Amino acid sequence: MNTLMIEKVKAIDLAQKYGTPLYVISETQIRRKCQEIHRDFLKKYPHTKAVYASKAFLPSAMCYILKEEEIGLDVVSGGEIYTAFKNNFPMDHVEFNGNNKTLEEIELAVKTGVGRIIVDNLQELKTLEKVCQSHNTTANILFRIVPDVESDTHDYISTGHKTSKFGISLENNYFFEVLKEALASPHLIFKGIHFHIGSQLLIIDSHVNATKKALSLIEDIYLKLNTEVEELNIGGGFGIQYLPNDPVHAISYFLNPCMTLIDDFCREHHLKRPKIIIEPGRWIIGEAGTTLYTIGSIKENGQVTYASIDGGMTDNIRPSLYQAKYHAVIANKLNESPLKEVTISGKFCESSDLLIKNIKLPLVETGDILAVMSTGAYNYSMANNYNKQPIPAVVLVHDNVHELIVKRQTYEDLLMQDIIPKRLEQV
Ligand code: LLP
Repeated sequence: MNTLMIEKVKAIDLAQKYGTPLYVISETQIRRKCQEIHRDFLKKYPHTKAVYASKAFLPSAMCYILKEEEIGLDVVSGGEIYTAFKNNFPMDHVEFNGNNKTLEEIELAVKTGVGRIIVDNLQELKTLEKVCQSHNTTANILFRIVPDVESDTHDYISTGHKTSKFGISLENNYFFEVLKEALASPHLIFKGIHFHIGSQLLIIDSHVNATKKALSLIEDIYLKLNTEVEELNIGGGFGIQYLPNDPVHAISYFLNPCMTLIDDFCREHHLKRPKIIIEPGRWIIGEAGTTLYTIGSIKENGQVTYASIDGGMTDNIRPSLYQAKYHAVIANKLNESPLKEVTISGKFCESSDLLIKNIKLPLVETGDILAVMSTGAYNYSMANNYNKQPIPAVVLVHDNVHELIVKRQTYEDLLMQDIIPKRLEQV
């Protein structure tokens, strides 16, 4: 068939029914990833847990899929806590990250019973303690550390280096001062250590290096304070395939080396192996997403052939922000041979709004449906209204069923928050 299928549905039929740009998500793909995590991590290694980094993509429907798949949630904002809570997500399976949690967000987390607070700094620790005190309750906490490791990814999505804005430095005994405060508090229950070193990592070295740092810290905590670390959260960051030649990594590729290291270290150093928690976002949702666009104007400028789409950096900001690379096909010309190189240009008023530079495609014509692959993560969740562009709809496909899970924004929606002062209206 000369047409792209998403599960058992023709992409062009979705484009016609729901309009473009359109985010399409394969539910089967998400579930397959969750099941792989169960099989090759949670069942294989006892005393483990997986939470999905909801910043990657969190329409309400996602909460229900994850709940059914028995995967927890990692949240980083009041909005994400609210989304989980409103959708009856079991809040004890929610972990709250972030480097500047506001008082309001901390209160929301405490009131809704968020299971773990990943504390980023001393001020936050003090605020959390006060909030717990005033609600006469306790909070389970982990400390996010700066493991001081480099990772092989774009600078903007690297988070484990010495000068990272995230986490508590391990230099000059500072971490131990913060930890002692926590241990002295009747409202804070110290559970463990957390790190997250970066995103879209395709080699395992930095996870292994950070795990080594965390293990030696865990041993230090035991030796210095006689305190057992019950949990070690090794974050997310597991990379996916964007381009046809990118490697495709199973979850075991990332986790087996870390688990072997952890098990060996704990055995050799006579430590109780902590519960190991992972926080994948992109690895679960990235490849499940395809974005459909309609090709509009086509032109040659100098050496470059531009084919313009009806979306761009407002629905996928990643190429402009991180020089991210994507692969695409023409959904209605799937089996036609590539003819020449074109550059897929977005429609927004920025020269950086080029979705894909120099991709070889079959003859591109106005009205063709372009399908950009692996757009499930950090596309919809980073969408914006630049140039007053409405955010596209999201459709969930399962087998031959397709359903809207997020409505397309309308022009009216764009004005919903606007207020015109009376004195201006009178003019
Ligand atoms: N845990 C923590 C604490 C994180 O900060 C992140 C991502 C994750 C887990 C999940 O990472 P993942 O498994 O999805 O790689 N907007 C960027 C990605 C930023 C990721 C920030 N933190 C992008 O589009 O590439």
